[in-house]
Amino acid sequence: MTSRLLKQALLVAAATLSATAQATTTRTCSSYKIPITASSANLVWALPPFSNNFEVASFVDAIASRSAGGPETLFQRAPQNVSVNYTIAATFCQPARGQPGASAHNGAVLIATHGLAYDGSYWDPPIDRVKYSFVDYAISQGYSVFFYDRLGTGDSSRVSGYVAQLSNQVAVLAELTKLVRAGKYVGSLGKPSSVVYVGHSFGSTISIQAIANDITAADGLVLTGYTLNSDVLNGQGTAEISALRIASSLNSHRWGQLDSGYVTQVDVFANVGAFFAAPDYDPAVANFAQQTRSPMGIVELITSQVPVHPVGYKGPTLLISGQKDFIMCKSDCDGGVLNVTAVDVFSTAKAFKAVSYPLAGHGINLHLNAVGAFKEITDFLSTNGL
Ligand SMILES: *[C@@H]1O[C@H](CO)[C@@H](O)[C@H](O)[C@H]1NC(C)=O
Ligand SMILES: *[C@@H]1O[C@H](CO)[C@@H](O)[C@H](O)[C@H]1NC(C)=O
Ligand SMILES: *[C@@H]1O[C@H](CO)[C@@H](O)[C@H](O)[C@H]1NC(C)=O
Repeated sequence: MTSRLLKQALLVAAATLSATAQATTTRTCSSYKIPITASSANLVWALPPFSNNFEVASFVDAIASRSAGGPETLFQRAPQNVSVNYTIAATFCQPARGQPGASAHNGAVLIATHGLAYDGSYWDPPIDRVKYSFVDYAISQGYSVFFYDRLGTGDSSRVSGYVAQLSNQVAVLAELTKLVRAGKYVGSLGKPSSVVYVGHSFGSTISIQAIANDITAADGLVLTGYTLNSDVLNGQGTAEISALRIASSLNSHRWGQLDSGYVTQVDVFANVGAFFAAPDYDPAVANFAQQTRSPMGIVELITSQVPVHPVGYKGPTLLISGQKDFIMCKSDCDGGVLNVTAVDVFSTAKAFKAVSYPLAGHGINLHLNAVGAFKEITDFLSTNGL
């Protein structure tokens, strides 16, 4: 069963959620399977693979320890240069012709990269799209959105959970960007006038790293569920609260083809602890997120928060995290903490703004007031000429 079919099946179960689901936005979408060749310098896992969940629990304790060693304790000394062919599942949506405002930002394409535990549908969840679809909101404001399943998730190529990591995910984004800029896989749009990266969490790390590698990659940057402030980042707490188990041990039917490097939250409460902030979410949506979650590669988890400092980036940059983001701010993003380091890193940007978004946790798009965050994003872009 493909993940999309699975989602359709789950939708039936989630009928209460879809009762009010109604598309108010007229959009034209195309889905693609895109062949790419991605070249990257990958960290090479140096430990034996996990053989059971006792080993996963010990490993999480070890990396969360206050005396944890650096990456040299986990990876071989030299990264390995690889060039691999993958297929990436992507969707491009643009305002339908005649839709009010369809030409407002004609030619601007937002390339959206999701974080850990999701696939591309994070940006357009098949539940109540009026409340939760970033894609629908962006389209209502005249933007087009290109979103995709990261390597190892959704309908994109499978790789080992000991191989999927920041470097190859960045290489995938860089290749997709070249294609989009050339006017490929963007429906009837043609060559975009501008490209903006929009990331969530690990997807933000991937977006910012792609810009650090090439500051012309994107004309603007939106980092959601993110921080550059290592003092408030809660990586260790997140690893522990997530109660990770080998995905195939939880559901061999669904995840049996994934190796033991793929782990996932054991239950909805582990998911909620890291991703949702009470009372500002619908428990049915949290259950939906848990039921449709994507396992994360262990090396993705380890590389998800490497500090990235793009030098000399000029594009307008918005950093927006939920005020109660447990992962990025230990549940309190107020008090200027999101500005720390970020204002220096983006000192050359045409504009920089950090927002601690009220009444939301880490999975900002799945909170009850997600639309307000979507508005912050498109308002920022449009104010800054994108
Ligand atoms: C990998 O590529 C980098 C730069 O592209 C190069 O400096 C390095 O020597 C290469 N490593 C190996 C093992 O070939
Ligand atoms: C990867 O794709 C390229 C371009 O289509 C092709 O030339 C090459 O042979 C492929 N490599 C492998 C290992 O399949
Ligand atoms: C960042 O600092 C500016 C003032 O320099 C302030 O207006 C803004 O609220 C701060 N943002 C956050 C999220 O703290």
